[in-house]
Amino acid sequence: MAQTNYRLCVILILHFQNTMKKGSPAQVVTIVADFDRTLTKYIHKGHVCATCHYVLEEGSLPELYKEKARTLRDTYFPIETNPKLSVEEKIPKMIEWWTKSHGLLETCEISRDSIQHCVSSSTAKLRDGCSWFFDELKKYEVPVLIFSAGIGDIIEEVIKQQSTMHDNMHIVSNYMKFNEKGQMTGFQNAIIHVYNKNENAIHDSAYFQNIEHKTSMILMGDSLGDLHMADGAEVDHKLKIGFLNTRVEESLELYKKKYDIVLVEDETLDVPNNLLRSILER
Ligand code: TMP
Ligand code: MG
Repeated sequence: MAQTNYRLCVILILHFQNTMKKGSPAQVVTIVADFDRTLTKYIHKGHVCATCHYVLEEGSLPELYKEKARTLRDTYFPIETNPKLSVEEKIPKMIEWWTKSHGLLETCEISRDSIQHCVSSSTAKLRDGCSWFFDELKKYEVPVLIFSAGIGDIIEEVIKQQSTMHDNMHIVSNYMKFNEKGQMTGFQNAIIHVYNKNENAIHDSAYFQNIEHKTSMILMGDSLGDLHMADGAEVDHKLKIGFLNTRVEESLELYKKKYDIVLVEDETLDVPNNLLRSILER
């Protein structure tokens, strides 16, 4: 089910189509997308699918880790998705979650080589139509930024196994650090969690400077934190597509206020793909 501000969307799509006259898609359009539960499914065949972190939980890590990670998720995921809490109230809790979760992972002696199998045996699943989405954007050389509070190493592996990682795609995420024996020792940079995607430290990267001169952007996310993934990029037109996967009744009005299109319990990329067709293939 799509919930849309139709007038605004039509205007935005017309703007997008007009900008195409000013240059090639590669010059004028950019895509910024979250990963977990945006490019991947929330539900597949009635079962909740894994996020990047949950991929490791499903893998062959010690039972004690799994138990603790599950307890953390049961505590903090309801806070992440609670529409009654403000972002200010959520931020300290998200920092707590990511700090504890990453601290736990550091104790598990994860090997670089185990990631491939963790992903192939996991329930993480790209949305239906995701490969077409990636291929189409590559065809027109439209830059794609995947900006995720998940784990970069897992994202790369999911895309590699279920689709294609093209050279127009760039990932900003939490990347693991490995020692010379290939064992995980921590994470490379400061934590990216769902509500700090607006931080300057992240946006100072060369990649963000590269997208700033585009005129049109499609932003895709499933969390209200994702709305800030492109803060600071001065694009003329930004079309925001939100996936509302859970707590629908209590969150719908808020999502409709914040996103231009809200896709409710939709496990496909059909709407963004149709949009790309209407913009790129004219
Ligand atoms: P995203 O930015 O790609 O959506 O990734 C963030 C998601 O990761 C967020 O919805 C919560 C989830 N997550 C877990 O499932 N387990 C964890 O231990 C942590 C820290 C996050
Ligand atoms: Mg997400």
